[in-house]
Amino acid sequence: MADWWDADGRRHRKQFSSASAAREHEHRQTAHAHAKRASREMKLATRTGGKPAATVVTDTVSIEPAKGKLGVMIPGMGAVATTFVAGVEAIRKGLAKPIGSLTQMGTVRLGKRTDGRSPKVKEFVPLAGLDDLVFTGWDIFEDNMYEAASNAGVLDQRMLDQLKPFLSSVTPRPAVFDHNYVKKIDGPNVKKGKSKMDLAEQLRQDIRDFKKKSGANRLITMWCGSTESYIEPTAAHQSLSSFEKALRENDEMIAPSMIYAYASLMEGVPFANGAPNLTVDLPVMLELSRRNDAPICGKDFKTGQTLMKTVLAPAFKARLLGLSGWYSTNILGNRDGEVLDDPGSFKTKEESKLGVLEHILQPTLYPELYGNMFHKVRINYYPPRGDNKEGWDNIDIFGWLGYPMQIKVDFLCRDSILAAPIVLDLVLFLDLAQRCTQLKGIGIQEWLSFYFKSPMTVPGLYPEHDLFIQLMKLKNTLRHLKGEELITHLGLEYYD
Ligand SMILES: NC(=O)c1ccc[n+]([C@@H]2O[C@H](COP(=O)([O-])OP(=O)(O)OC[C@H]3O[C@@H](n4cnc5c(N)ncnc54)[C@H](O)[C@@H]3O)[C@@H](O)[C@H]2O)c1
Repeated sequence: MADWWDADGRRHRKQFSSASAAREHEHRQTAHAHAKRASREMKLATRTGGKPAATVVTDTVSIEPAKGKLGVMIPGMGAVATTFVAGVEAIRKGLAKPIGSLTQMGTVRLGKRTDGRSPKVKEFVPLAGLDDLVFTGWDIFEDNMYEAASNAGVLDQRMLDQLKPFLSSVTPRPAVFDHNYVKKIDGPNVKKGKSKMDLAEQLRQDIRDFKKKSGANRLITMWCGSTESYIEPTAAHQSLSSFEKALRENDEMIAPSMIYAYASLMEGVPFANGAPNLTVDLPVMLELSRRNDAPICGKDFKTGQTLMKTVLAPAFKARLLGLSGWYSTNILGNRDGEVLDDPGSFKTKEESKLGVLEHILQPTLYPELYGNMFHKVRINYYPPRGDNKEGWDNIDIFGWLGYPMQIKVDFLCRDSILAAPIVLDLVLFLDLAQRCTQLKGIGIQEWLSFYFKSPMTVPGLYPEHDLFIQLMKLKNTLRHLKGEELITHLGLEYYD
């Protein structure tokens, strides 16, 4: 299928017998549209000195402008979700700054270091503005966002009170919930249905209703719900037909988060997964995502301890320092901590956290350095701390001639304060992806690995965990989309 926009911003699709013929046609039409627009804009500029029109078209990529409202739909209106939504409103009102957000505060260097071109990310690519965001959510509890944010205890109550009218207006829709998947909590605000397919249909109706009522012309679903119990993919998850059959038959291997993902992707809505659940990390979801041009990404926000791990481990590998052990423990007292106190949910989180070192340190390539490392992760529920998690790391490394050394990291962090800017960036970048010819049909958005503990990749590819490689991947993707030169940091041209 070839898919392109013409010079007037109209979308076209045409069926071809082979993918290469479709691609060739798409490239030709896009280049044609580009040339036509460029000549039109040059004529206009000579006449009026005016700016080029909003749709960005490079040789092979075109990005629709971010026109109108962007609806953000959040299953799980707990600590992370409320800190994000309250934060966006506080920023819109000029009460606070979007610290930690790459889309709002970050820059992209373009061209040579001597060129002095470093626009802000949000000026470089066409992202939705914060004023255009509208919100809805689902939760098993009936609290509106003001009540939920007050209960979460992350943000100062004085700040929340200033945002009360807005936050109170965001009320949870009844959730699709299964206590077997989240054992530590239960709530009254839950949908009833004859089958899981029936529940999926109800969610699809919620999505359509929200779109209509809010006037949003684009949507995003952002999973901020609790961590579900650990499961492995089964035959039911391998294709759309087997998944739909399993939905109709109430297969117990279909978790609630998968029902939200299915409903969103069926409605052509991109889906990001902030928890370590499988959710969209399944062949069926990749199939649906590609079929409906609804990008997906996940999983598990990279916030505190793993952020530090993916900064330190690449440094050890870069200096060829060995690692004999890494013991990580956490205390936290929020609802997430309570949910993770259940062994099934903890196992899901543990899997997500453990993969990081193996992939960064590559023990098969460096057996003398990393072939025998002991890696342990613990999470302890400790109510007095609330959302203010403490993550300790004891790291045993060794250097020249095998001499041992130790590093201790004690990160007194705020879980949701670290997660909220990630949510904002993911919302805006996923929306960019759905407006971009080259990204919307590829399924997994690996360029967003930067934000995840356990980044999704196509089958057969290992995930990239190194934070700085992830950042380079993200920024080079943006440069690529805009037809700018990729930055390799080679730098020899300065010495010619
Ligand atoms: N805060 C962080 O730093 C961080 C980092 C990585 C991942 N995460 C993950 O993000 C998620 C949210 O974290 P949080 O601190 O906001 O947790 P939270 O417990 O405060 O909020 C989760 C909310 O999801 C709701 N929920 C559970 N199942 C649901 C369902 N099926 N449908 C709708 N709502 C449902 C719960 O009622 C709760 O209100 C968790 O899975 C957590 O593991 C958080």
